[in-house]
Amino acid sequence: MHIDLLRSSAKSLPQQICDTLAQRITSGLLQPGTRLPSVRGLAVSLKVSQVTVSKAYADLEKRGHIICSQGKGCFVAEHERNGPDTRTGWQEVYDDYLPRAQLWRNFDYSEVEYPFHMAAIHSGLLPLGPIGATMAQLVTEQPELMASYGNFQGNLELREIMRKHLQPRGITLSSADLMITSGSQQGIDLVARTFVGPGDTVYLEAPSYTGAIDVFAGRGAEMIFVPMDQEGMRVDVLTRLCDQRPPKLIYTNPTFQNPSGVTMSMPRRQRLLELARSYRCLIVEDDPFSDLYFRTPPPPSIKSMDEDGHVVYMKSFSKVLAPGCRIACVAAAGNILSRLIAAKSASDLGSPLLTQGAVLPFISHKYENYACKLRAALRRRMEKAAKLLKQYAPPGVAWNLPEGGLNLWLQLPSAAGIDRLHVLAEREGISFLPGDVCYAGDTPSRHIRLCYSQMKEADMERGLKLFLILLDKHLNSLR
Ligand SMILES: Cc1ncc(COP(=O)(O)O)c(C=O)c1O
Repeated sequence: MHIDLLRSSAKSLPQQICDTLAQRITSGLLQPGTRLPSVRGLAVSLKVSQVTVSKAYADLEKRGHIICSQGKGCFVAEHERNGPDTRTGWQEVYDDYLPRAQLWRNFDYSEVEYPFHMAAIHSGLLPLGPIGATMAQLVTEQPELMASYGNFQGNLELREIMRKHLQPRGITLSSADLMITSGSQQGIDLVARTFVGPGDTVYLEAPSYTGAIDVFAGRGAEMIFVPMDQEGMRVDVLTRLCDQRPPKLIYTNPTFQNPSGVTMSMPRRQRLLELARSYRCLIVEDDPFSDLYFRTPPPPSIKSMDEDGHVVYMKSFSKVLAPGCRIACVAAAGNILSRLIAAKSASDLGSPLLTQGAVLPFISHKYENYACKLRAALRRRMEKAAKLLKQYAPPGVAWNLPEGGLNLWLQLPSAAGIDRLHVLAEREGISFLPGDVCYAGDTPSRHIRLCYSQMKEADMERGLKLFLILLDKHLNSLR
């Protein structure tokens, strides 16, 4: 499908694609039921990125012109022909409140040889063998686990192990103060459903984790992004902002932050907690990466200093153990936790007993040793990536070396051309995350996120070198 795009136009590329297709649909040129090209296919033919096409499709869907369903594709809506009284026509004008920042997760990465886009660890480094063996044993020896719901709050034995796990990390709570969730993504969602309503003010770091942005957007929150520096969220700026709009909630990922890799300093952690106390609001401390430090352990968690229950702490085991098991732990004191347990029961009646049982012995007996080895492997990758950056990164490209975590956050000379870079990289079999999805709305960002842990080490090195050479060529072509 061809669409004339004016790259010099003040109208954004997604808007141009959306308007053109909307016009073709309303004029009848594109008939109801017609399947639109795949995001990837249209991106290739228009020489734009998949981000651009998916933004355009999301807008068309919001305007009721098309219907997209995962795995099937996007189709021109039926009501364009028959009116909304066909059997399912009503659905097309049925408002939804789904945010769409996470659309990038639906891109077709099947042909990507060098996947740098997802903050994840290569399966070869994860303890899938022992966890799988426990799972198999549970299925044969305790099949009744599949026949029961279990406790909404989570398996008591696992909560007890989580308690022991958190204690040396400065978090001293009882297992009654902990709840098991399906990843910290569910934890964030439960907090938002319980405590955030339309118009409530939620502060986040700029940039922030896309999954959290979507959750708060879905609640109709007023999201305010607070700038960061090398010590994390600028709490001085946040304090001034709070004077004008008191916070309902502050979301932070203070340690090896996704996407920037920055770690919040201890004084900032203390001041943030003081601020939450003075405003009597909640902090969500999302902490999936703190065990993945390269040299020295990061500062203590904000939760470890929380005496009066302002912090809802989330410890995910997705990044470090097995994302497919969907195991995280939420720690919160007082009646905040009981309200979250009520939300969990309404959401899914409790996490699966099989996956809770499968990770339990590993976390209990083998985790600390394993984490040591994992840290060493990740550090080696990060150092190799750092060396390649030093050698091949073009002038004008800046980055900070993270002291832990999974990501490199590269700053390019300008936001212009990142879309094109995405297309060029894809042609070479390389994927990355464009930084603008880490902000709300259409903020153009001159950053990109590269995850150095998603591939085998040698592949990562080959892919990164290829990417940096491509980036150099690309930036030269813009000069
Ligand atoms: C900062 C942060 N929080 C939460 C999540 C969600 O992880 P999970 O739901 O697998 O625990 C991610 C995943 O990328 C993340 O980076």
